[in-house]
Amino acid sequence: MDVRGHGAIVTGGGSGLGAETARALAGAGAKVCVLDVNADAVAAVAKETGGLGLVCDVASAEAAEAAVAQAREAHGPCRVLVNCAGIAPAKRIVGRNGPMALADFEQVIRINLIGSFNLLRLAAADMVGAEALDDGERGVVVSTSSVAAVEGQIGQAAYAASKAGITGMMLPAAREFAKVGVRVMTVAPGLIGTPLLLNMPQEVQDNLAGQVPFPHRFGTPGEFAGLIMHIVENRMLNGEVIRLDGAMRMQ
Ligand SMILES: NC(=O)c1ccc[n+]([C@@H]2O[C@H](COP(=O)([O-])OP(=O)(O)OC[C@H]3O[C@@H](n4cnc5c(N)ncnc54)[C@H](O)[C@@H]3O)[C@@H](O)[C@H]2O)c1
Repeated sequence: MDVRGHGAIVTGGGSGLGAETARALAGAGAKVCVLDVNADAVAAVAKETGGLGLVCDVASAEAAEAAVAQAREAHGPCRVLVNCAGIAPAKRIVGRNGPMALADFEQVIRINLIGSFNLLRLAAADMVGAEALDDGERGVVVSTSSVAAVEGQIGQAAYAASKAGITGMMLPAAREFAKVGVRVMTVAPGLIGTPLLLNMPQEVQDNLAGQVPFPHRFGTPGEFAGLIMHIVENRMLNGEVIRLDGAMRMQ
């Protein structure tokens, strides 16, 4: 899709991969609405991209409905949704103090998986009701999974389950929306240099980066945003997970 003049929504747009994706979409001429729970961050990215910045918990039905409605009013129907909001707390299933609290597992599933579905359902409703563009295309949704969906580490039971859920719901969604020209894709990053990783001690960073065969480093948010833009533009990409990991396979 040529995004020029069309409404786009980026969740988790206040930081890291989401912020860089918002910049790329705005640079290509989209009218971008960024959603995040971090009010200062969302305002800064909205200012930079000349779009809308809304404080929104992606896991809340009411907050997301209100945010998508506000974005529609300002920018027209959502044509591009990029789900980047996520959290990645590490916790063993049975730790020193006994079993992991069920609420900890639920929180990760709520934000990462239910949050991605929540925006998918609302943005897709906008797309389904919008006019068909070139080739009959109405919209595109890209969600962010992780290589942990298939190679989760100790401590990542909740995170890995949430990311596997994102890849699992992609194909039914792509099939359901195929007849109306809405594509659904997933990106599974390996290690990308966002504040999440770059705030770790240097030796931990070096050790992690050392596990990436080539290029022997973290990916950059720009490389992630570049892939998102390609997916948005390339109409043959639908119902697929693309790894962005420099051939890394976690042990
Ligand atoms: N950086 C990596 O190496 C990497 C690897 C694999 C997957 N991912 C995934 O990519 C996505 C973006 O990660 P990042 O590295 O940019 O992290 P980040 O922490 O820089 O950005 C995540 C953003 O999501 C926001 N957020 C958290 N909970 C939210 C909620 N309930 N509602 C709305 N916004 C919320 C945060 O405030 C933050 O701005 C995440 O889903 C993460 O799991 C990242």
